[in-house]
Amino acid sequence: MASFVEAAAEIAHEAGSLLRHYFERRVAFEMKGDYDLVTEADRASEKLVVERLSKQFPLHGIVAEEGGGHDSPSEYRWYVDPLDGTTNFAHSYPVWNVTLGLEKAGELIAGVVFDPNRDELFTAERGAGAFLNGRRIHVSGAARVADSLLSTGFPNHNRATNPNIHFFHELAMSAHGVRRGGSAAIDLAYVAAGRLDGFWEIGLSPWDMAAGILLVEEAGGVCTDMRGTGHHLKSPHILADNGAIHNELVSLFGAIWLGRFPHAMPPVA
Ligand code: IPD
Ligand code: CA
Ligand code: CA
Repeated sequence: MASFVEAAAEIAHEAGSLLRHYFERRVAFEMKGDYDLVTEADRASEKLVVERLSKQFPLHGIVAEEGGGHDSPSEYRWYVDPLDGTTNFAHSYPVWNVTLGLEKAGELIAGVVFDPNRDELFTAERGAGAFLNGRRIHVSGAARVADSLLSTGFPNHNRATNPNIHFFHELAMSAHGVRRGGSAAIDLAYVAAGRLDGFWEIGLSPWDMAAGILLVEEAGGVCTDMRGTGHHLKSPHILADNGAIHNELVSLFGAIWLGRFPHAMPPVA
């Protein structure tokens, strides 16, 4: 029988081809919240992933973003984001992915992130390392925030109360740059691959992060919340980085949480 990660990779490839098909013919979007988009492609991908997982692992629980999963008393639980980066997808911006993470008794043990636009498959298995298209990946060696490239995101829900713009501004002044790619699972995979030195976000959901957290940890990086304390899938915020810049980021974030901004925002005029 294929390993969990091999099974997840095969399903992600299949869902990725389906998503490409929708992407090429551009699909209409609907709103599920004030700023939260959903498309026919999200639902079709979720249906496919849930069907395949249920067939191969009938006793496992599945938590899927669009609600197609099901609970189970099993110690195994899959977290599925059938299309991570829907806003990008709906605007023909080619940064999105399909991601599946597997937890056993509360511990992440397998994860995949598949980016069909670049044909990049990121995989991780607890204790066995992180890989990109079968080749081992490692986090970067950047030792200072001043030498780093970072990324963040702004959730689609509770946008008006999300304080991230302050963190964005401060880190944009402190690092080489801060990207906002629009796909949290790709951000995390890029930290694992050393393309980014760190990523943070406030208000992500478990399916956005499950596979990416394992990728970062297995690539030698660190995941905590933004205060530097232990992270779990229900944490209100996440900080994932190469480990070398972790303490510096946590102390910078600590000052920002307290309203102390080393670089004040400039006046508009
Ligand atoms: C979103 C993306 C985005 C992040 C949002 C997520 P979705 O996922 O990952 O980068 O900033 O917080 O909700 O809704 O496109 O699956
Ligand atoms: Ca998502
Ligand atoms: Ca999604």
